[in-house]
Amino acid sequence: MRIVIIHGQSHEGSTCLAARTLARQVGGEIREFFLPRDFDKPCQGCYACFKTELSRCPHYDALAPLAEAMLKADLLILASPVYVYHATGAMMSFLDHFGTWWVIHRPMPEMSRKQAVVVATAAGGGIKSTMKDMADSLKMWGVRRVYRLGFGVQATKPEEIPAGIRRAIDRKTAGLARRIQKNAGKRGCNVRAKGWFTLMRLAHKLAAPMEPDYGYWERQGWHGKGRPWRA
Ligand SMILES: Cc1cc2nc3c(=O)[nH]c(=O)nc-3n(C[C@H](O)[C@H](O)[C@H](O)COP(=O)(O)O)c2cc1C
Repeated sequence: MRIVIIHGQSHEGSTCLAARTLARQVGGEIREFFLPRDFDKPCQGCYACFKTELSRCPHYDALAPLAEAMLKADLLILASPVYVYHATGAMMSFLDHFGTWWVIHRPMPEMSRKQAVVVATAAGGGIKSTMKDMADSLKMWGVRRVYRLGFGVQATKPEEIPAGIRRAIDRKTAGLARRIQKNAGKRGCNVRAKGWFTLMRLAHKLAAPMEPDYGYWERQGWHGKGRPWRA
């Protein structure tokens, strides 16, 4: 399995430990990117991606290796420590660059072949909201299945994690790895993205065409019988 991990921090702490433990248990070819080390640009709000295409983003040269690796992967892991109840600024800045991949704009059919996991660790609170920050993008990209893995580690670094919590990390990652292996190679779309796809398709039929989204859907055959998860 081709696995891509996007780390929302540049250090190898508790979150990195949890994400790597999962990836190794799933097994396969693992590629890792660390933010902001491997991509450090905040979205400029220029709308080049929405008005033309993502490759016109002023940051595309730096973004392309990460975007291409994600498109080729079978399993995406987005991992972030909880910073003030949310994913890190570096992770959110990275995700801001993929607004056009949302199902309401120009979704990538490749997403229907993927599974994804959001991983978050916190000293205690904010895990749910942090996982949601990352899961929102993965779901709206149309990733077939998105799993959530959060740990309250009661620690600021891996060496401080209590033994019982270390065991829970191993146990829960092993269980999820088995589910991921079992579901490998399937196609589909999560319910939320499918709902938004249906609504947008209707909007395309009722309202004046909004380009370049309308033309993209037309070329993909989605105004007819084609669907991103069937291509
Ligand atoms: C700037 C900052 C903000 C944080 N905010 C929270 C928080 O809101 N809730 C919490 O429980 N822990 C918070 N923490 C603690 C980390 O989330 C926690 O130690 C996490 O496991 C660190 O992961 P890492 O080792 O991968 O960096 C914060 C840490 C930092 C540096």
